[in-house]
Amino acid sequence: MDCMKAVIIGAVLSVAAAERRFPAGFKFGTATASYQYDKGESIWDRFVHSRPEAISDRSTGDVACDSYNLWREDIQLLEDLNVDFYRFSIAWPRVLPTGFPNRVSEDGARYYGDLIDGLLARGIEPVVTLYHWDLPQPLQDLGGWANPLISEWFADYARVVYDLYGDRVKTWVTINEPTVICDIGYDGLVAPGLESEGRGSYLCTKHVLLAHAKAYRLYETEFKPKHQGQVSLTNQLMWFEPETEAEAELTELVKALSIDRYCHPIFSGAGGWPPALERHVAEKSAAEGEPRSRLPPFTGEELHLLRGSYDYLGLNHYTTRTVRRAAAGEAVGTYLFDGFRELGVALGARPEWPATMSHWFMVHPEGFRALLSYVKRQYGDVPVFILENGLSDAGTDLDDQPRVDYYRNYLEQVLLAIEQDGVNVVGYTAWSLLDNFEWMDGYQSRFGLHHVDFSSPLRTRTARRSARYYAALARTKDIHAEYEFHKMAAEL
Ligand code: NOJ
Repeated sequence: MDCMKAVIIGAVLSVAAAERRFPAGFKFGTATASYQYDKGESIWDRFVHSRPEAISDRSTGDVACDSYNLWREDIQLLEDLNVDFYRFSIAWPRVLPTGFPNRVSEDGARYYGDLIDGLLARGIEPVVTLYHWDLPQPLQDLGGWANPLISEWFADYARVVYDLYGDRVKTWVTINEPTVICDIGYDGLVAPGLESEGRGSYLCTKHVLLAHAKAYRLYETEFKPKHQGQVSLTNQLMWFEPETEAEAELTELVKALSIDRYCHPIFSGAGGWPPALERHVAEKSAAEGEPRSRLPPFTGEELHLLRGSYDYLGLNHYTTRTVRRAAAGEAVGTYLFDGFRELGVALGARPEWPATMSHWFMVHPEGFRALLSYVKRQYGDVPVFILENGLSDAGTDLDDQPRVDYYRNYLEQVLLAIEQDGVNVVGYTAWSLLDNFEWMDGYQSRFGLHHVDFSSPLRTRTARRSARYYAALARTKDIHAEYEFHKMAAEL
């Protein structure tokens, strides 16, 4: 936009929109993840190279954004965004090339240490995810998340990382989005790309949760007394609405499957699986001739280990889906795992919810408030840390006003959840700092506040309009800060 336009808009905006500010201590940040961005030897390397047709543009994350080399530049972008924190993930195979702790990569350890120091030097807090889907391939060869020993292997890895960076990192995210790791990873669409007819995903769910709990307890007993940090996991939680009132009860079961399966064992007072889900899967398994429920039970000791293994509730949210009963024999659609078949549901969306570049993602801001209120009703006053939220588009336009609108409208719902529903939301993370390798969508679907030119060896980063809006938001905590300005500028 040229100067003249800016002057005209400035003059027209003499009546600014009323402020809508987040509370003083509320923190804003942005996020990335290692494979989408940086790289190690992992199940994703194996998957994209052995099954190139699984990625829509047949691309890989071999170089991705090349933040392994360009991290200093990225810290500058973060500083320009005025963010309080930066969420990134550590690639397990970059630190432990075999997956096991007998060999620690000096280079990997130095890389993350430099990044953490670089952030702290600019006053940006590192929020570190231990696992964002890039399992060392040697562990997958031993069964991956279906092998019960993996919770020990994960705790061993966590110990190495806590030892390396625990003095400087105060917020840890053990595992990112178990639903994708287990439900999609064990149903063919993402790495490791297994097909297990509902068995692998539930086994994986149990072992991922236990891995989280062991890493949590390890920190609690051996590191927290010295470093006073906080640990949790983050779940991708969609919101669900019944398509018609007749499907209200069924929708509750979908919530038990999709939201509470990952939350109830950790955040509820009673612990264990959500009872309605446990009953349902046991009945279904028996009816289908299984000798035992596909959803493996917890022992008393496991239940105890999991219950209360959190310092905050991490949540990634993007979209809402409608729920209806599937017709007999109906294919229930993509991005679904066997659990939805088991429940006999089909997910949809209302026609008025705008589509995005991701086939699973429709825009419905009000669903965010409904989800946050549900979390409070289910799990009480736990501090909720929003660790991802953002919009995908084709990425061609630097003038991404729809993304600015998305942030403003979703954040308005977060404010309403705080003010009207008393939800204790403590921070918000925009996904993502940069365009990156969007898993099955390759580089065709973009979430970045910054555009990345993947055709250039320099991987040039350019701020979009949304980056300028987010910088004003993070500085003022006011969702209306510069919003009208950008809206008018986009219309000119
Ligand atoms: C969740 C994942 O954690 C992240 O890796 C992904 O890019 C976004 N959702 C968008 O799909």
